[in-house]
Amino acid sequence: MTYYTPDPVPLYGPDFTADPDAVYARLRRYGHLAPVEISPGVHAYLVTDYRAALDLLHDSDTWSKDPRIWQETLPPDCPVLPMMKHRPNALFNDGDVHARYRSVITDSFSLIEPHHLRQQVAQAADVLIREFAAAGEADLVTQYARPLPLVLFNALFGMPDHYGPRLVAALAGMFETAGSESANTADADFEQYVMELIALKQKERGHDLTSWIMDHPAGLNPEEVIHQVVLTMAAGHEPTTNLISNALSRMLSNPDYYSTLSSGALTARDAINDVLRNEPPMANYSAHFPRRNVRFHGTWIQANQLVLVSYHAANTQPDGHPENTERTDGGAHLAWAAGPHACPVKQPALLIATAAIERLTSHLCDLELTVPRHQLTWRDGFSHRALAQLPARFTPITRDHAGVTPWTSPSSSTRPDATSRAKPNVSEPSAPQPA
Ligand code: HEM
Repeated sequence: MTYYTPDPVPLYGPDFTADPDAVYARLRRYGHLAPVEISPGVHAYLVTDYRAALDLLHDSDTWSKDPRIWQETLPPDCPVLPMMKHRPNALFNDGDVHARYRSVITDSFSLIEPHHLRQQVAQAADVLIREFAAAGEADLVTQYARPLPLVLFNALFGMPDHYGPRLVAALAGMFETAGSESANTADADFEQYVMELIALKQKERGHDLTSWIMDHPAGLNPEEVIHQVVLTMAAGHEPTTNLISNALSRMLSNPDYYSTLSSGALTARDAINDVLRNEPPMANYSAHFPRRNVRFHGTWIQANQLVLVSYHAANTQPDGHPENTERTDGGAHLAWAAGPHACPVKQPALLIATAAIERLTSHLCDLELTVPRHQLTWRDGFSHRALAQLPARFTPITRDHAGVTPWTSPSSSTRPDATSRAKPNVSEPSAPQPA
């Protein structure tokens, strides 16, 4: 059997970061899959075709999420390993093991009432807006979209408010170059934060995600609890940040979103839908490995070789009609992936992003970008479409401003027992949610 392994196309570096659409157009010339390099020396196949992506994501008999054989082929200091190596969590396991871990995450999130979540987002938003509201300018990535999910998670996982800045600082440090001293310190700080979180909940349970994960009938052992907590925070942070900031960048650069005089003004939800389809926060992921040598959509792939799905390329694929430049199928997209590993927290994540944007634009109603959208810079990396900064200005507001301000919002001491449902008496772990 012969395997065709042409020169891989890099999914990193200035060309890819500046114009990923041009790179995806080039990759489509290889067929439904293209050879790519996700980091120097780390090769993969990337699925760029929408139908092929669905075929892969729904075929667990052929494709595994377990990276253990593949990761042995990489040097131990390979920079993609921290996000791609095996752990006992939902992301890197198949079948019953996956279903058990996933049920813990979906069941725990299902206990958060949407109106309680919306209230928690507003509180997290107000804490952050108070920091820059009087300045009249802010970087909406580093000062808002990046810390917001973490301030929120700190509360949802049941940590006292003063731990929020610690979580923000630890995970912000992780975006430093992998292997650098600050990245290593951040790693250790995050680990310490999670250990203190677990210790706190071991002493006393609360109405929070950590306690529900610990007490779930699936009966996770302490190590498994830690891994589901870490996965949930890590998997939730980056894409939620990107969803908020990519949508804000579209809203602030398009007058249709602010034409308040016309009843047809577009909403935050319109911007979010636009991003999910045309600039998905996770651009390329769903790492899969064939269980045996397979021929897939015209390409031979060896067992345990890394294959990724390009949600971005699949979503923006031209539909073949000469007059259309993209697919014309009513807005279906793969921003949440599909199949058994599709994002289990889609509805809460949508609510979080929408509420975060609405809260910001309601307090700072004349927000505008200080540089045109086409001059914004993006972070390097194969997996995300992430703005590096989003500089904006607005009329400053202060504590004594009339009307509703970030200082007059409800206090941060919530009564979750009054807003979230009691834990149901589930005797069996539930099945994974359909995509
Ligand atoms: C509160 C926020 C979020 C949380 C807690 C969260 C959590 C998770 C978890 C635990 C998984 C692994 C599921 C499994 O393997 O069975 C996952 C997968 C995924 N999530 Fe989310 N997520 C969040 C927000 C988002 C957002 C905003 C997006 C993008 C629009 C997104 C896109 C995805 C995708 C594409 C996958 C599949 C990844 C893969 O299989 O490699 N998620 N998410």
